[in-house]
Amino acid sequence: MSTFSAPKGTYDLLPPDSATVLAVREALAAPLRRAGYGYVETPGFEHVELFSRGVGESTDIVTKEMYTLTTKGGSQLALRPEGTASVLRAALQANLHRAGGLPVKLWYSGSYYRYERPQAGRYRHFSQVGAEALGTEDPALDAELIILAADAYRSLGLGGVRLLLNSLGDRECRPAYRASLQEFLRGLDLDEETRARIEINPLRVLDDKRQDVQRQLVGAPMMRDHLCEACKEYHERVRELLTAAGVAFTDDERLVRGLDYYTRTTFEFVHDGLGAQSAVGGGGRYDGLSEMIGGPPLPSVGWALGVDRIVLALRAEGVELPLPANTQVFAVPLGEEARSELFALVTELRRSGLAADFAYGGRGVKAAMKAANRSGARFAVVAGERDLAEGVVQLKDLESGDQEPVTRDGIAAELVRRLG
Ligand code: HAM
Repeated sequence: MSTFSAPKGTYDLLPPDSATVLAVREALAAPLRRAGYGYVETPGFEHVELFSRGVGESTDIVTKEMYTLTTKGGSQLALRPEGTASVLRAALQANLHRAGGLPVKLWYSGSYYRYERPQAGRYRHFSQVGAEALGTEDPALDAELIILAADAYRSLGLGGVRLLLNSLGDRECRPAYRASLQEFLRGLDLDEETRARIEINPLRVLDDKRQDVQRQLVGAPMMRDHLCEACKEYHERVRELLTAAGVAFTDDERLVRGLDYYTRTTFEFVHDGLGAQSAVGGGGRYDGLSEMIGGPPLPSVGWALGVDRIVLALRAEGVELPLPANTQVFAVPLGEEARSELFALVTELRRSGLAADFAYGGRGVKAAMKAANRSGARFAVVAGERDLAEGVVQLKDLESGDQEPVTRDGIAAELVRRLG
């Protein structure tokens, strides 16, 4: 134990669990690669204003959860709490929307930071894989992204992921809905903070988890009943395309999401084995975000999936991912002379594409064989001076315990034949 431990709300990823995390990221990215999404990487921090304007001045993320800092040069920066605003900023800055055809399809994978109250599944440093399709308004694009996420969960072997779907309307129909919701909410018996929220972001009140609030919300006007014809049609088309693709969903008219940029399609993937922090992914359409951060109109849609929670969901379902082999061959020298010869063999094996490791540290044979077994290797190559003088090494099958001599010159080819 050192004097230090990881900061509150964070954890270290260590072997063997870290291998699962890499496999999850890979599985989430695979469907995106097949669908023409290109990889994008943006800085871990941005100007604070990108998020206050983009994610929303009144959201919890911006008012309570951002890690902000002032640089020595006086710039106000924030560790990124989410990826969408950054990815859109990067695409606009590089003029990707003018370079080729639309949509610009991008995917990303990385760390995000929110100063939240830590609990199971909620961390201050967490990891997302995300995708954004910029510049096109087409219900098929919304459907594509939702289908790709559903396929990614399925490819991991997760059975317990449910999709919740809603439409939040657009700049045509939402203002009138917002006003009628405000009128309804102002008549309720609510605390100071919630009353303030009615004026800034009334839709968030629908999302209030407290029972006495939910009880009063019975009969509240719902966006669904106030959608304009264009939004209604758009939403219906997304629903049809999902159904045709065999992706099941539940209409959830209370689904609001915690970021302000959404318009029309919004969705969340939830897993029931995770307790309170059940969202394993979420996203939606954000047709106005580009203009909010100073860009041209660029209707877009995207999602981000939470890698940490997906790992928890796998654990909750008892799913073991097939992981790439660690060590396949472990070399155990008997004596100093054999040491350099077997070290050279290990390099040769690795260059032939096998995963090979070596008994470092010059410990005794017993300790070395223990290390070989612990490594998970299928074979050990054991050799002493006498073996090498005869031009052979001993190939030991660590499963059966059988051992046989193989020529030094032929051992690499033999191992590739057996393991490759
Ligand atoms: P979000 O719903 O805030 O959306 O986050 C997406 C996912 O990240 C969540 O469903 C959850 O799995 C994971 N997540 C969020 N906060 C935490 C946390 N504190 N600890 C662990 N996991 C967490 C966004 O971030 C949007 N940018 C998604 C998007 C992309 N919308 C359009 N494009």
